[in-house]
Amino acid sequence: MKQTLTIALSKGRIFKDTAPLLKAAGIEPLDDPETSRKLILDTNRDDVKIVIIRATDVPTYVQYGAADLGVAGKDVLMEHGGQDLYELVDLQIARCKLMVAGFPDRPLPTTGLKVATKFVNCTRRYFAEQGRQVDIIKLYGSMELAPLVGLADCIVDVVDTGNTLRANGLAPLEHMADITSRLIVNKASMKLKHAPIRELIAQIQAAVAQRN
Ligand code: ADP
Ligand code: PRP
Ligand code: MG
Repeated sequence: MKQTLTIALSKGRIFKDTAPLLKAAGIEPLDDPETSRKLILDTNRDDVKIVIIRATDVPTYVQYGAADLGVAGKDVLMEHGGQDLYELVDLQIARCKLMVAGFPDRPLPTTGLKVATKFVNCTRRYFAEQGRQVDIIKLYGSMELAPLVGLADCIVDVVDTGNTLRANGLAPLEHMADITSRLIVNKASMKLKHAPIRELIAQIQAAVAQRN
């Protein structure tokens, strides 16, 4: 019997940038997640399904084997920890940087620094490695607002063009990591469904190489 593969993707930039790579591997979803309310998308291949979930949930679905494969930003993977999954291909999509950002003309306080972020683990690790004591305030979005209203001295968030920071009178202050999205695979799936997964990875790798 043919082994089925489930791929976890998030809507928006990851789906848009992954779709051409999947197409090159002969996989085309039958519905568009931007217009459909379906969370499980059939594809042109009866052995491949796509589940549509929040970007931060992708490593969790793959970790527990609810999806065999997924596409997640390195920021999300660093925050998750990467347990029980392999990070196999750098897809070189959704390129951005994880940064500390704040007011351009205000040095950060050396004690009692308040940092607002959704990347709590990355932030704790980054400042601890430098021996800097911080209070981390967990947010779920619109981090740029936090310094403007006095909730925090700075934020940790992903930055691409810098437009969002600039529009809010903020600037990048410290570079934490370069980010791209990765193809991740559940460790047990990699063993049990070795042949179809290896074939898919090879096709996606070829598509990434061809695009560059
Ligand atoms: P979310 O709903 O979690 O914000 P996104 O689709 O915005 O999901 O982000 C998915 C991934 O894309 C992030 O984990 C990050 O790696 C990357 N990313 C986020 N914002 C940008 C951006 N402005 N430009 C390029 N890549 C980005
Ligand atoms: C992301 C991120 C920043 C912005 C950075 O938000 O959280 O706000 O992009 O990109 P820029 O440097 O090019 O301005 P996104 O567009 O994903 O919106 P979201 O709040 O829905 O996550
Ligand atoms: Mg976003």
